[in-house]
Amino acid sequence: MNLQHITKSIIVIFGATGDLAKRKLFPSLFNLYKSGRLTPEGFAVVGLARRDWKDDTLRDVVKHSIDDSENEEIINEFCSHFYYQPFDITEDQSYIMLNELLERLEYNYSIPGNRLFYMSVSPQFFGEIASSLKEYKLTQSNGWKRVIIEKPFGRNASTAEQLNDEIRQAFSEDEIYRIDHYLGKEMVQNIEVIRFANSIFEPLWNNQFIANVQITLSETLGVEDRGGYYDKSGAMRDMVQNHVMQIVSLLAMEPPIRLTPEEIREEKVKVLKALKPISRNEISDYFIRAQYSPGWIDGEEVTGYRSEKNVSPNTKTETYVAGKLLIENHRWKGVPFYLRTGKRMSSKSTKVVIEFKDLPLNLYSNVERKRVSNLLIINIQPDEGITIILNGKKMDIASKTKPVSLEYSNKIGSISNKPEAYERLIYSCIIGVATNFAHSDEVMLSWNYVDLILSAWENNETPLFEYQAGSMGPKAAEKMLAKEGFCWWPI
Ligand code: BG6
Repeated sequence: MNLQHITKSIIVIFGATGDLAKRKLFPSLFNLYKSGRLTPEGFAVVGLARRDWKDDTLRDVVKHSIDDSENEEIINEFCSHFYYQPFDITEDQSYIMLNELLERLEYNYSIPGNRLFYMSVSPQFFGEIASSLKEYKLTQSNGWKRVIIEKPFGRNASTAEQLNDEIRQAFSEDEIYRIDHYLGKEMVQNIEVIRFANSIFEPLWNNQFIANVQITLSETLGVEDRGGYYDKSGAMRDMVQNHVMQIVSLLAMEPPIRLTPEEIREEKVKVLKALKPISRNEISDYFIRAQYSPGWIDGEEVTGYRSEKNVSPNTKTETYVAGKLLIENHRWKGVPFYLRTGKRMSSKSTKVVIEFKDLPLNLYSNVERKRVSNLLIINIQPDEGITIILNGKKMDIASKTKPVSLEYSNKIGSISNKPEAYERLIYSCIIGVATNFAHSDEVMLSWNYVDLILSAWENNETPLFEYQAGSMGPKAAEKMLAKEGFCWWPI
């Protein structure tokens, strides 16, 4: 079977009138279309939601979601592949009509029954949709069937387990694609290449040479119009349980035997299994939570978290988390993996800093730990690339050193053709490659780890710190590293 036959498919989007569809899904599908990975002969998109739209209403929205510098003829041709059906998740008739529509489109576009269901609705509906898809035989076409699930994947281990059970009524594990859009980012995918394709790093990638690892996911945005969701979620559920844990597994895993989804996942799972459990009374030594107070971002005054729209004025939800993970295996025993993430911080940046150990005897006495160290920085966004910071000789002054930085940046290449994370992930799902999606084992292990911390926070067993909007977080996060002789490397 050739690739074109496999990629011929119908993409069914539950929640097609939502923000994600407009911001990410439609532009990503357009890029796939433009690059020929979705062919005019073999794809259709069905949008579903409660609103009483027509095909043309959806097509109009799709058109406006695409950069208008693109060729209008191509945009119009692309939009003509979109169909809309008003949909009530609880109504039998909606599923019956959907099946008829899919059969008709499959006939018209000669699509061999390949169906991708994209759940971009609130998770409370996933189970009901999955079981109705099965009941009304929408999952019994002749081709492949797959489902993409948006986060949040549960609120804790038990709700995630329940969600798994519900979805598995209609889809097997290898048909379930749990999206973590960080796994679609170029430089996150590049972590494996940097580690496993370069002999200069891998021999040093262990506790003999690495002092600590720092992972920062900082955002300048606040909660925008997502206060209702965010206030029930918080930074731990929103960013750490998924994105940060995935980055940690990629950084810490052993080389897989082969680059297959199964082998890679197996190694990532081992990392999560090796996380040193913490006890309830040690939580504040390992994790810090905080909330932003009013401040300034890019010269503009912004409110504190408690005054945001749809956020309770007495909320204790954290908008910032800093933490320390220890991985108890031969490679990593003793190396702290520090993480921090927050809203309304001073910059939007995702970076991994690998700090190498000092030489046992450094002959250049002015090499100050605080000023420079041997660092490998993986710049995930907004810049993409790597930076290595070394000690070099200061010109003209004997025996004095200064930090020199070697940079590789993707900016040098073509940035205009840069594929979106969602574009990569949707295409991977269409061709059936699940490597960059979260397997249920990873999701469960990660929930198991953070559940205890979340429950202690919900009981207010540890302090909730404040940080000013526009800063890099509370002082407590600096102290956490300082007491171990480290500092957060500037980003
Ligand atoms: C999402 C979170 O998963 O990631 C958002 O729900 C966050 O709160 C976003 O803003 C950050 O993604 P990115 O790609 O902009 O770093």
